[in-house]
Amino acid sequence: MDEKRSQTSGLEATVRSPRLIQIDRAEPAAVRAALLDGLEAHPARVSPKYLYDALGSRLFAAICELPEYYPTRTEAAIFARHVEEIAARLPAARTLVDLGAGNCEKAARLFEPFGVRRYVAVDISVDYLRHSLDLLQRRHPAIETIGVGMDFSTHLSLPDEAGEGPRLVFYPGSSIGNFSPEEAERFLRVVHGVCKGGGLLIGVDLVKPAEVLESAYDDPLGVTAAFNRNLLLHLDRLAGTDFALADWRHVAFYDSERLRIEMHLEAVRAVVVRWPEGERRFARGERIHTENSWKWRAEDFAALLGRAGFSAIRRWSDERGWFAVFLAQA
Ligand SMILES: C[S@@+](CC[C@H](N)C(=O)[O-])C[C@H]1O[C@@H](n2cnc3c(N)ncnc32)[C@H](O)[C@@H]1O
Repeated sequence: MDEKRSQTSGLEATVRSPRLIQIDRAEPAAVRAALLDGLEAHPARVSPKYLYDALGSRLFAAICELPEYYPTRTEAAIFARHVEEIAARLPAARTLVDLGAGNCEKAARLFEPFGVRRYVAVDISVDYLRHSLDLLQRRHPAIETIGVGMDFSTHLSLPDEAGEGPRLVFYPGSSIGNFSPEEAERFLRVVHGVCKGGGLLIGVDLVKPAEVLESAYDDPLGVTAAFNRNLLLHLDRLAGTDFALADWRHVAFYDSERLRIEMHLEAVRAVVVRWPEGERRFARGERIHTENSWKWRAEDFAALLGRAGFSAIRRWSDERGWFAVFLAQA
């Protein structure tokens, strides 16, 4: 592991630099082609993974501070209340693998109660991950910290540096909700392979009244709107498009039949979006679908874990039954 010297409070301290391994970086031409395919589709769509460039990751961290965004606080309260009970039931695993680690704060709160020795943070938003891990390593110098820059929606296998032995995969924040139920089952089977002999600790957002969900995804301050609209700036960089932010507004609604929040960007007037070899005309009111966030009934999610190969499934929830944390063995 690299070491660098840093000045902290006037005292010179040795701080390990976390290793960051970028694997399977997609070819820019392939990314561009896939994005333009989605833009030309009817209705147009973009994968939610493109919400997370460096600014998108920061905007998501700001969303987690909003009073309307209950998932982060509710999940944290479940951990605060039950962490000892969860720790007592953990499979034997010293490596914590954090999928979609973001600012790594949720995992860091578990280091001490879980006795974590090695932390592997996986995220597609590599610059933000590097920044988060630098801060984390200063606060937890004894923990071996490894960053893995990876798009796990296309491929999930950890590099040798992630170490041998059973792992606990941590997948908080109900990010699993970005997958449809069928995709979630396929993804969890892959996760099962990654943590075989260890286990999975996963946070899942539950079905609840539409008004609670809709204000969480369309807050009055407009932070979620900025998060969604920032995707257009990311697309301009990746696909060479010329989106004008003023032409697009954030739309979020709950589909109570499919049990999912949908996020879209809606053209506020007739718009032509151009890129070097093409263009797409959008009528006023036409939308680009940017994210789904499926909500689960707790018993259905437990059954899904079973179908994906997990056993010894345990669940903790909050008093309102808004969110659940599942621990399962692989
Ligand atoms: C909803 S945020 C959750 C962040 C943090 N774990 C939490 O619970 O607050 C989703 C995280 O997953 C990452 N992410 C989204 N899609 C991804 C993908 N396909 N591969 C790897 N990371 C991804 C994002 O960059 C972001 O940090």
